[in-house]
Amino acid sequence: MKEIIIKNGFIVNAGEEFHGDILVSDGKIKAIGAALDVAESEVEVIEAKGLTVTPGGVDPHVHMELPVGDGLVSSDDFETGTRAALAGGTTTIIDFVTPEPGQPLVRALEERKAAARKSLCDYGLHMSITAWEESIPQQVKQCIEKEGTPSFKVYMAYKQAIGLDDGPMIRVMDTVGRAGGRVMVHCEPGELVDYLRERFIAEGKTAPRYHPLSRPPEFEKEAVVRALMMGRKTDCPLYIVHVSTIGAAAAVVEYARAYKHDVFAETCPHYLLLQDSLYAKPGFAGAAYVMSPPLRGDGHNDFLWKALEENQLDVVATDHCPFHMKGQKDRGKENFTLIPNGVAGVEHRMGLIYTFGVVPGVLSLCRWVDVCAAAPARIFGLYPRKGVLCEGADADIVLWDTSKETVISAQTHVTNCDTNIYEGMPLKAVPHMVIANGKIVMEKGRVSAQKGNGRFLYRQKNKL
Ligand code: URP
Ligand code: ZN
Repeated sequence: MKEIIIKNGFIVNAGEEFHGDILVSDGKIKAIGAALDVAESEVEVIEAKGLTVTPGGVDPHVHMELPVGDGLVSSDDFETGTRAALAGGTTTIIDFVTPEPGQPLVRALEERKAAARKSLCDYGLHMSITAWEESIPQQVKQCIEKEGTPSFKVYMAYKQAIGLDDGPMIRVMDTVGRAGGRVMVHCEPGELVDYLRERFIAEGKTAPRYHPLSRPPEFEKEAVVRALMMGRKTDCPLYIVHVSTIGAAAAVVEYARAYKHDVFAETCPHYLLLQDSLYAKPGFAGAAYVMSPPLRGDGHNDFLWKALEENQLDVVATDHCPFHMKGQKDRGKENFTLIPNGVAGVEHRMGLIYTFGVVPGVLSLCRWVDVCAAAPARIFGLYPRKGVLCEGADADIVLWDTSKETVISAQTHVTNCDTNIYEGMPLKAVPHMVIANGKIVMEKGRVSAQKGNGRFLYRQKNKL
């Protein structure tokens, strides 16, 4: 395959920015520098003058084709969801394996890998542990040492299905910490949430606006503190997913500072940009925003932005898990607890964080690249293969046009969902071209990557 040179771009990594060129050969970055000396007749030249050039985004928290019971499955499968990712400049996703009760972890991993094979971009998988049993330590070791899956998720919510009680959870942390992995925690106290949900329904409070009231901010904070405490007692590296509140973010910061514990935390675009007043939209429209944890009230958005700016939150991931309003979310028309939880985000994450973070000066360009690409790659064992433009890295490169503006709409988005929670919001950075593993996979809005182009990523164990 002919080598490619990307010339005269404004190159941005998490730790540097400069005008320069990138030479791509055989799917990798062969050279990068201020003015590469390459005979242009022998290479394909891509002119990037006026464009901002970043590593492809890494979204470490997505749920493609996630079954959530009663025959409902999140509406983006691995094909449509990764097409949406590429359209928005994200070239790597990490999804989840959720074993059936009693199913060996590696068998569940094989099944999920088979489903993910149709991905258009590269993908890794985190392993969820939904029950404790004696063979978990040996299975965890196998996931880390042989299967390239060194991150494990536990849920404190969803107790009837996949949630763990404290006893099993601390055992998982102990096991994973010893084996060199990292535990990701969904921090909401399941029993308390279930109690409030049942109470509201019994009182006839069935509308979407009761969803956030059943999962109040103090619940998240309590669960985060409990998870952090267990992580410290077991010396287990942690990653707190989808932090949505001031209390939870402050707890992570205080804890990491006080104990120098290896803990990272992510937030999501919806917690930075949207508020819980949306649940009160007329009729059933508030259902579009039902995700867990829910959107929050005044003050939380600003606090999370500040925490990102000050390096206290580490990653912006999406928790991408869309459901159509028609035929999916509307299952909960008479009962908000039956609304499938989840929203889309993978397509617009990088554009939104640029528009509402970089443009107003809250985040630098480097910090944008850090939270959307470099940090998730580092934390989850993909660095420096992903998340950075450097010699030897996979040639996952995005050329952004920041002189154009588009407006988000469900009419035009690539994601397979009949609504978009960011409808009408502007995007001030538009991917002009996306290159994945050295091939142009998106140009001027058209994704050309083929089903199955993505590869499973074997990730390294924790060595931070
Ligand atoms: O509402 C959410 N977050 N849905 C996706 C599943 C999960 O809890 O991560
Ligand atoms: Zn999730």
